[in-house]
Parts: sequence; C-alpha cells; structure tokens
Amino acid sequence: MTEAKRLAGEKAIEFVEDGMIVGVGTGSTVAFFIDALARIRDRIAGAVSSSEQSTARLKQHGIEVLELNDTGPLPLYVDGADECDPHKRLIKGGGAALTREKIIAEASARFVCIIDPAKRVDVLGRFPLPIEVIPMARSLVAREILAKTGGQPVWREGVVTDNGNAVLDIHHLRIVDPVGLERELNQIPGVVSVGLFARRPADVVIVGGEPPQVIA
Ligand code: A5P
Repeated sequence: MTEAKRLAGEKAIEFVEDGMIVGVGTGSTVAFFIDALARIRDRIAGAVSSSEQSTARLKQHGIEVLELNDTGPLPLYVDGADECDPHKRLIKGGGAALTREKIIAEASARFVCIIDPAKRVDVLGRFPLPIEVIPMARSLVAREILAKTGGQPVWREGVVTDNGNAVLDIHHLRIVDPVGLERELNQIPGVVSVGLFARRPADVVIVGGEPPQVIA
C-alpha cells in the first residue's frame, strides 16, 4: 500500500497552482504529498498545516508554514483518510489530527483526498470512528455514545492531541446516515470534533494505483 500512497500523493500535485497557499493534512499518504510539494516549493506561497507532524516535515523541506488566521480562505486542501464511501464522505483521525484537519477542510474551496484502494468502503464504520474530547468529559461522552449509537467507545490511552485533548475510537458502527450521526455526536457536551467528514465531504478523491484514479 505504500506505493499506492506515494502515487496518490504525487498525483495531487496536479491540483496545486502557482502562488497558492496550500492546506496540508496529516498522515503517511500526505507525507508523500509534502515531499512532492517540496519539488515545486518556489512556485507556492506557503502552506497551512494540520499537525505538528506535518509542520515539521514542511519546514524540513523549506516550505513556509503560515497561520490560518493570517491567510483567510484557502483554495486547496490535500489530506488522506481512513475510510472513503462512494459519496466521498470520510472517516478521518487515525492520526489524531482530526480537529485541525476539519478546520482547514472547512476553510478550503477544494478538498482533494488522497487514499490507497484499501480505504474504499460502501458503508463507513469498519474503521473505528475517532472523536476528540475534552479530557474531563471523556467518560461522559463515552457513556452518551454507547447509549445513542450502540457503538463501543475505546479510549486511545496515552494519546494527547495537538490541542491537549483525548481521543475516543468508536468501534462496531455501521454508519448509514453519516450526516445525521456527525450532527448528533457534535451536540454532546465535551466533544471537540468528530472524525466524520460527511457534512463537508471531499470534492475530489485520488485513489493511488498505476495509474491513479481521480474521482471528481
Ligand atoms: C490523521 O488524523 C488522519 O485523518 C489521516 O488523514 C488518516 O489517518 C490517513 O492516514 P494515512 O495516510 O497514514 O493512511
């Protein structure tokens, strides 16, 4: 799958235009995108990063990292996913960067999602759904999720997000109404964000392969 991730990451470069500030996601697929972006770094105006991990890689390559508060809306966001359904709705957050990823996706005119073929599913939910929570609300949120969805919340023990919060992974969900579930989970006090990208799905999905498949 590493090769498929590389092919997807490199294909996404075709969506980068001269002078752009590029939103950059997190993960092993995005790492290939960042490496490819480095080759055209003189043609872009910088990047907005979704994690400390991606920030470090961007800076290693000499790409300027800008604050979203200073850039305003972005033309392009490139990020990976843990699952992708036929409507380009996603589960994200396997790398615990979901909140900043969601913020940048919302701020971007075009969200290009780069995945390997194993990420494609008909119905979301086989991959445990990550939820970022305020630490003191962890048990409360877990109880509410159990009662509301029947899914099994598991604390990702030892993981602290870049925002200082905890992560719950919800197992055994079959997400037939992703928009509704995203809305419902977002309303539980203590939830910072939900790793469902359904209200704002990807605009373009690139599936790594020889050749890569672009689903627009
Ligand atoms: C990071 O929090 C995630 O949303 C990643 O985008 C997702 O886990 C995909 O990661 P890989 O590209 O490493 O599979």
